Amino acid sequence: MRLTILGGGGFRVPLVYGALLTDHAEGRVTDVVLHDLDAGRLDAVARVLAEQAAGVPDAPAVTTTTDLDEALRGADFVFSAIRVGGLEGRANDERVALAEGVLGQETVGAGGIAYGLRTVPVAVDIARRVARLAPDAWVINFTNPAGLVTEAMSRHLGDRVIGICDSPVGLGRRIARVLGGDPKQAWIDYVGLNHLGWVRGLHIAGRDELPRLLADPDLLGSFEEGKLFGVDWLQSLGAIPNEYLHYYYFNREAVRAYQQAEKTRGAFLRDQQERFYEEMRDPGARALTAWDRTRAEREATYMAENRESAGAGERDADDLSGGYEKVALALMRAIARDERTTLILNVRNRTTLSVLDTEAVIEVPCLVDAGGAHPVTVAPLPDHATGLVCAVKAVEREVLAAAESGSRTTAVKAFALHPLVDSVNVARRLVEGYTAVHPGLSYLK
Ligand code: G6P
Ligand code: MN
Repeated sequence: MRLTILGGGGFRVPLVYGALLTDHAEGRVTDVVLHDLDAGRLDAVARVLAEQAAGVPDAPAVTTTTDLDEALRGADFVFSAIRVGGLEGRANDERVALAEGVLGQETVGAGGIAYGLRTVPVAVDIARRVARLAPDAWVINFTNPAGLVTEAMSRHLGDRVIGICDSPVGLGRRIARVLGGDPKQAWIDYVGLNHLGWVRGLHIAGRDELPRLLADPDLLGSFEEGKLFGVDWLQSLGAIPNEYLHYYYFNREAVRAYQQAEKTRGAFLRDQQERFYEEMRDPGARALTAWDRTRAEREATYMAENRESAGAGERDADDLSGGYEKVALALMRAIARDERTTLILNVRNRTTLSVLDTEAVIEVPCLVDAGGAHPVTVAPLPDHATGLVCAVKAVEREVLAAAESGSRTTAVKAFALHPLVDSVNVARRLVEGYTAVHPGLSYLK
């Protein structure tokens, strides 16, 4: 079983490889191909993986290449975790938006649109190549903004591309724990778009335990989302939103916290990772030690930009490990071995949410088996959630249209229609600002 990782020189690749090392069963991944545009980063990460593999007899063999087509040929799974424009690009996404007084977060608001505009053309090129060179491969997309990018790729790969995120499963796990249930046994009634979903129920042994949580202010205030959103607001909503909804419900505070931060998240990670890759230029460097130290620092500051302002506590060890690599592994296992499982994934809507068309990629619990991911029927969203989901999906569609046509006017429309961009003039200036700093947006005419 061959897994190709695009963005193979990325800092989080050792997490994926670490997860693969725990799998000793028949049908596991035996070959990993790392692809990246940057040979230096590939080399650094390959050295970390080699140290991880030491002493593991059945460790997957690792090869590296900067040739995309070569990487794709013969792949059974393609894991896409690229970052077009790098972390410098992410820092610029934040900076340009903040200068206009709007949010420049990686996936939400103006920042997510800018990131989407430069990522979609690259993701579409990858999808076309996969369709040609590895038509039977399954593509697991982790590249953000994950819902939008998955939808772009699905236009060429259909249901062979599946988007993943760790935030819904992390949220479900925290709620189950507060309720004293085993997260693995809980059925989470969650739906929306990526980074824009709500838990409306959490069933343990067939019983919905969420009402018990919502009725108990002490329990509700005891976990991360309770602190982030506040007990009263969660009770008003009657649901637990994904942490990224904080950027909508507390937008002013989030923008202010970003503005006041010494460094934005993107700038922090850019500087921190530059140091790691720099350190790895020394052929004598202890790769795994250097990586692990950098990882620990990164996790300790996870999303601190909004959590501190909201007084949210720290995450526990399980949450800090991210968890997306576990989602990826579970997904590959279920497909490769036809082991039926339920995972919250980004897939085409079909008829799940009647307010969206069948092609719209949504985030929803899916039954996964050798035939892929099949969304489960869920209850409709409440009106307030439907409003946001439809507005943001309409923006995503404008981003896809702008990426396809190269139209600057359409790009302006995408920014202007976003609920977190408060003036068409701001949208115009955002397009000016972003095209000035991002070479990856030079296609917009
Ligand atoms: C969560 C989200 C990912 C996002 C990551 C950002 O895991 O689900 O989509 O990429 O946070 O973490 P970072 O450490 O890069 O800020
Ligand atoms: Mn995510």
